[in-house]
Amino acid sequence: MIYMDNAATTWPKPKKVIRAVVRCMEEYGGNPGRSGHNMAVKAGQLLLYTREMLCELFRLEDPFQIIFTSNCTDSLNLAIKGSVLPGDHVITTTMEHNSVIRPLMEMKKQGVELTIVKCSSQGLLDPFDIEKAIQSNTKLIVTSHASNVTGTIFPIEAIGRIARNHGIPYLVDAAQTAGVLPINLSDLPVDMMAFPGHKGLLGPQGTGGLYIHPDIQLRSIRQGGTGSQSDSIYQPDFLPDKFETGTMNTPGIAGLGAGVEEIMKEGQSGILAHENRLGKLFLEALSHMKQIKVYGPSDLSKQTGVISINIGDKDSSEVANLLDERYNIAVRGGLHCAPLAHKTIGTFRQGAVRFSYGLFNRLDEVKACIKALEEISRM
Ligand code: ALA
Repeated sequence: MIYMDNAATTWPKPKKVIRAVVRCMEEYGGNPGRSGHNMAVKAGQLLLYTREMLCELFRLEDPFQIIFTSNCTDSLNLAIKGSVLPGDHVITTTMEHNSVIRPLMEMKKQGVELTIVKCSSQGLLDPFDIEKAIQSNTKLIVTSHASNVTGTIFPIEAIGRIARNHGIPYLVDAAQTAGVLPINLSDLPVDMMAFPGHKGLLGPQGTGGLYIHPDIQLRSIRQGGTGSQSDSIYQPDFLPDKFETGTMNTPGIAGLGAGVEEIMKEGQSGILAHENRLGKLFLEALSHMKQIKVYGPSDLSKQTGVISINIGDKDSSEVANLLDERYNIAVRGGLHCAPLAHKTIGTFRQGAVRFSYGLFNRLDEVKACIKALEEISRM
């Protein structure tokens, strides 16, 4: 199997991630923060350890600025629905995944105003278009860090500076970049950042998180038991308990901590250099294949490890199926849960065949993909 679907979830997971999940379940899987016995205390320490690892990765001081969620979509729902009320205005872009667009459309039904700023056909965003869309009632700006369709990287620093100048909170969807691109949250003008645990951070599915800047006042959208202030019938107002309610995914978070350890061990610059070597080979070969159209910038300084293509007018899902069945290559065809992004790049009807490579792919695997595409182009 050649796995080229790392934008959906990374695979394989490092052995240490799998071992951390199993060890937690076998040895200390008590309910963190709920009881005083040894197993519950150990589980609580594990949560803190993973939070500290994430802080090291994202260059943060206070581990309680990061809360755990069940995935990036969960984090985005909390950040969006906890920030805006009917009558408020939100700005986003046409390159967003449905994890951003659908919660916003839901809020629109409830009376939130929405501006969706248009990106170029390569998925590029001009930050001044965000500034032009600001209104007196704008209460949130939300953009991806990089597109899941084209890999196009957004200028989050420039957008964040605009947001700060206007006193508007800025939420970043780091679904495709957490663990992939270096992110320094102490320096960046970013107020909230949603991230999955199971993609670039190499953790198990069912994990994710949200960074919340100390100046941000977010409403909780779910309430329940936290193990703290148990004499009160109201949700605690401090982090992380305000948002971490109900039993946490402790085994998953154990795996996530091990995933972040693995990234630290490999080094982010080394991971990026490896992925760029793969991308260079792939893009160079594709540029000589006349029947293939490549979407996005085709410039590795402007995109992550995502290359979306089409072969003539062949249906993208059929090509993805062929790659799977005949060549044992796993990619994702279709619309990638991002219909507006596909409208932006002109592939709403055909979809696109998305190759997304990662830390564990090799150059010979990229060569096998190129060979398969050459053969399918001739069919
Ligand atoms: N959001 C993931 C993707 O792009 C699942 O495939």
